[in-house]
Amino acid sequence: EKDGYDTFMEKEIHDQPHAVADTLLGRTDAAGQLILDELRIDPEELKSITKIIVLACGTSAYAGMVAKYAIEHWCRIPVEVELSHEFRYRDPIIDPNTLVVSISQSGETMDTLMAVRYAKEQGARTVSICNTNGSTIPRESDAVLYTHAGPEIAVASTKAFLAQITAAYLLGLYLAQLNKKLYSQAIKDILAQLAEIPAKIQTVLDQADQVKELARSMKDTGSVLFLGRNVGYPVALEGALKLKELAYIHAEGFAAGELKHGPIALIDEGQPVFVVVPSPMDRHSLHAKVVSNIQEVRARGAKTIVVAEQGDEDVKQYAETTFYVPETLPMLMPLLTTVPLQIFALELASAKGYDVDQPRNLAKSVTVE
Ligand code: F6R
Repeated sequence: EKDGYDTFMEKEIHDQPHAVADTLLGRTDAAGQLILDELRIDPEELKSITKIIVLACGTSAYAGMVAKYAIEHWCRIPVEVELSHEFRYRDPIIDPNTLVVSISQSGETMDTLMAVRYAKEQGARTVSICNTNGSTIPRESDAVLYTHAGPEIAVASTKAFLAQITAAYLLGLYLAQLNKKLYSQAIKDILAQLAEIPAKIQTVLDQADQVKELARSMKDTGSVLFLGRNVGYPVALEGALKLKELAYIHAEGFAAGELKHGPIALIDEGQPVFVVVPSPMDRHSLHAKVVSNIQEVRARGAKTIVVAEQGDEDVKQYAETTFYVPETLPMLMPLLTTVPLQIFALELASAKGYDVDQPRNLAKSVTVE
């Protein structure tokens, strides 16, 4: 059942091209229009949505952060992302024009379930992005958009994360299509780029050896920092979470722009810092800003490990190690840049002799509050 891999985690990381492809499958018609009939919310009702709140925990919440960047950019609808357990215990402002999108691999996370129930009571429309057919959260939601990652056995989430991001992109594009916020050609172009992602993930997987070698060499590292910006920010958070969960190493992810507001004080000689570099094509020119962040930490002794887009030669001179991912649209980069970080955490934990499928103190679905 592990398909020849040593662990479920490794198998699931290698399943990711399928997880993304299967999540895209059957969701467009011959004319390239998105069809999300399974959403079961009246399109007219969806058109009246003025605010979106994404609710999730852990890795799923990081998928939600990617969703925020994509949906706001494509649909011009304000999106808030909130941890389910925080949401329910404040006085969130919800009305019938609020769409609550919950994201949960298991569909059983108690914190998220309670938050969805609360949102429903307050009159919101609820959509569940979920990987588990017939689980509680989709059953209690008005609508569901399933991710088709297949069962995820390893406790720490990998392929479900990429599938959640994919589903969130589809939801964003669907809302943009309904509200005519993007030209249909623009939507087709994005879908065409999405369709190429599975093969590009495979390219990243084929280069895993380089990442594994670095991970083994860093087996005695005490702390690792991860920097990212824009959609690379949730990727940095996810890279740090994977390392904490699997390798029990102190790791922290933060937005690269925050560096000078405090975290740069952490940098001293030999501190490993992963940097998820935005595409050189990013419309806000964030690339140059992040390159200067790399220089800043490097000048203070950091060991910089860079994940960048193929062809980005600028970053190479400032990086101890560079991992390249194939080119794609800036918005879609998380589907590629996450993969080396997963492999890094898996390999480092394995080198330490830890059980990567069942890390200590963790459970696959957290059904208590
Ligand atoms: C991290 C991880 C957890 C889950 C979180 C939410 O690797 O697996 O952070 O993402 O517990 O779980 P779901 O998505 O099942 O609601």
